[in-house]
Amino acid sequence: MKVAIFIIMAPFFLCHSSGISAAEVAAQAPTRTPSFTREGSESCLRCHSGEKMRAIAASPHFDMNIQGTPAATHGCESCHGKGSIHISRAHGGKGFPLLTQFARGRRGSPRDEQLQACLSCHADDSMGEKQIVFIGSAHDRPATNCSNCHSAHEESDPMGDMEAQNKVCSRCHRKDIRNHTLVKGEAIDFDAQACSTCHDVHVPRQVSMELEE
Ligand code: HEC
Ligand code: HEC
Ligand code: HEC
Ligand code: HEC
Ligand code: HEC
Ligand code: HEC
Repeated sequence: MKVAIFIIMAPFFLCHSSGISAAEVAAQAPTRTPSFTREGSESCLRCHSGEKMRAIAASPHFDMNIQGTPAATHGCESCHGKGSIHISRAHGGKGFPLLTQFARGRRGSPRDEQLQACLSCHADDSMGEKQIVFIGSAHDRPATNCSNCHSAHEESDPMGDMEAQNKVCSRCHRKDIRNHTLVKGEAIDFDAQACSTCHDVHVPRQVSMELEE
C-alpha cells in the first residue's frame, strides 16, 4: 500500500521544476473568489517541497484508496482551502485572503475557520468511527483547537501512540496527572496506559462506566 502511494506521489515531489504555461498563468490569474487548483497537491508541492510536506504523503489522509480522505478529494486544499489565488501570489497576488493556517494565537487563522476545516469532514455521518463531536467538549475553549493535540504533517498522528499522547496531555495536565484519582483503588501506571483508554476528549465528560464504579 505504502509503495503504491509513494509511486503515485513521486512525480509530485520530483517535478517541482515543471513549468506553467502562459495559458495556465492566464487561467489562474487572480480573481476575488478563489477556486480549487486544477493540479491539486502537485501545484502546492512545487513550492512547499520540504521534508515536513512530504511526510503527510505516508499518512492516512494521503491514502487515496480510503473514501473521503483529502487525497481522494482536494488534496492539500481539502484542509487549507481553495488555493487558486494563493498559487498566483508569486505573480503579485499578495493581499488576498490567506489560506487556512493551523496554529494557535496570532500565527493561526481564526479558530472557527481552523475547526471548520477539520470538522467539514470529521463531523459528518459518513465518517463512521472517525466521526467526532468536539463542539461542547471540555477542550472546546478559546485557546484550544485540534492542533493542540493532533498533527497532520507526520506519518502517524501522535494521538495514536501512547507515549506521544501522554506527553501532549501532560503539557497542560501535569498537575492533574500527579494528583490523578485512583481507579478501582489503584494508581494508574501512565507508562502502560494511554489517557484515551479511559477518556474520550471529543465528547463532554466521558469516562467508561465500568471504571466509575
Ligand atoms: C509560488 C509558490 C507557492 C505555491 C505554488 C504555493 N505556495 Fe503556499 N506559500 C508560499 C509562500 C512564499 C508562503 C509564505 C507567504 C507569506 O508568509 O506571506 C506560503 C504560505 C502558505 C501557507 C501559510 C498561510 C498563508 O496563506 O500564508 C499555507 C497554509 C500554504 N502556503 C499552503 C499552500 C497550498 C495548500 C498550496 C497549493 C494550493 C500552496 N501553498 C501553493 C508559496 C507558495
Ligand atoms: C477531506 C476530508 C478530511 C479533512 C478535511 C480532514 N480529515 Fe482527518 N481523516 C479523514 C478520513 C477519511 C480519515 C480516515 C482515514 C482512515 O480510515 O484511516 C481521517 C483520519 C483522521 C485521523 C485518524 C488518523 C489515524 O492515524 O488513524 C485524525 C486524527 C484526523 N483525521 C484528524 C484530522 C484533523 C485534525 C483535520 C484538520 C486539520 C482533519 N483530520 C481533516 C478525512 C478528513
Ligand atoms: C485534547 C486533545 C485533543 C483535541 C483538542 C482533539 N483531539 Fe482528536 N483525538 C485525541 C485523542 C487522544 C485521540 C485518540 C483516541 C483513541 O485512539 O482512542 C483522538 C482521535 C481522533 C480521531 C480518530 C478517531 C478514531 O477513533 O480513530 C479523529 C478523527 C480526531 N481525533 C479528530 C479531531 C478533530 C477534528 C479535532 C478538532 C475538532 C480533535 N480531534 C481535537 C485528542 C484530541
Ligand atoms: C488533514 C489536513 C491537512 C492536509 C491534507 C494538509 N495539511 Fe498542511 N497543515 C495542516 C496542519 C494541521 C498544519 C499545522 C502543522 C501540523 O499539524 O503538522 C499544517 C501546516 C502546513 C504548512 C505550514 C503553514 C504555517 O506556516 O503554519 C504548510 C505550508 C502546509 N501545511 C502546506 C500543505 C501542503 C502543501 C499540503 C499538501 C501536500 C498540505 N499542507 C496538506 C493540515 C493539513
Ligand atoms: C484507567 C483509566 C484512566 C486513565 C488511563 C487515565 N484516566 Fe484520567 N480519570 C479517570 C477516572 C475514572 C477519572 C475520574 C472521573 C472523572 O472525574 O471524570 C479521571 C479523571 C481525570 C481528570 C479530572 C476530570 C475532572 O473532571 O476534573 C483529568 C484532568 C484526567 N483524568 C486526565 C488524565 C490524563 C491526562 C491521563 C493520561 C496521562 C489520564 N487521565 C489517564 C480514568 C483514567
Ligand atoms: C492545550 C492544553 C490542553 C491539552 C493539550 C489537553 N488538555 Fe485536557 N483540558 C484542558 C483544559 C483547559 C480543560 C478544562 C479544565 C477545567 O474545566 O477545569 C481540560 C479538561 C480535561 C478533562 C476534564 C474533562 C471534563 O469533562 O471535565 C480531561 C479528562 C482532560 N482534559 C483530558 C485530557 C487528555 C486525555 C489530553 C490529551 C489527549 C488532554 N486533556 C490535553 C487543557 C488541555
